[in-house]
Amino acid sequence: MSGSEQDRVQAIYDEFAKNYDDHYASAEFQEEDLALFKIASPWIRGKVLDLGCGTGLTLSYNDINKDAYLGVDPSAGMLEKLAAKFPGFTTVNSTFEQWNEIDKDSKFDTILGLFGAPAYFAKESYAEILQRLTPKGHYFLMFYKPGYFPAHIYTPEDIEAAKARIDYDLINSTFETTFIFTNYLVASNIPKEFLPAR
Ligand SMILES: C[S@@+](CC[C@H](N)C(=O)[O-])C[C@H]1O[C@@H](n2cnc3c(N)ncnc32)[C@H](O)[C@@H]1O
Repeated sequence: MSGSEQDRVQAIYDEFAKNYDDHYASAEFQEEDLALFKIASPWIRGKVLDLGCGTGLTLSYNDINKDAYLGVDPSAGMLEKLAAKFPGFTTVNSTFEQWNEIDKDSKFDTILGLFGAPAYFAKESYAEILQRLTPKGHYFLMFYKPGYFPAHIYTPEDIEAAKARIDYDLINSTFETTFIFTNYLVASNIPKEFLPAR
């Protein structure tokens, strides 16, 4: 996305970070988390790259060693919350796209982008995600599904710009399998028999 749109998204998440965990603490969202990790957790193994890691949802639901985890997120506010809950876990305060330019050689066994985070990535970087995966690795990327955007934190203009930017044809052609999970279009290479039916 453009630099100014990215700056706006960062400012929105820096503000939202103050009550992000409280907002998602209700039973309804916890059920959604449990349903998600029922599918994803068996595949979260080895070195884990958590793109748009936010306040550390992945670490709340999975037992991951400190030396096996890297979280990347451009919002310093979100990362502060993660660090307070999970001291000693490594994070990079950067967009995926910027981090990807700098750290070209590292590979990961698991690549996650949970609850909408990949919907913010520039479409030119979709295929780059796969370049970071080890040969037997798995990815689980939750784009916002077509027509959905979290309206409680954005203006209608933000939402229109964001919807115009997400390239669903490219998502479907770049990634192995896609399926709808609640408000998200998940792109993954977890074998189909372990995924909810399309
Ligand atoms: C809806 S939150 C999801 C956070 C976390 N994955 C979770 O499930 O709770 C989306 C996150 O994506 C981050 N984000 C926005 N643009 C990004 C980019 N270009 N690269 C990486 N992360 C980005 C935001 O700062 C925010 O923390």
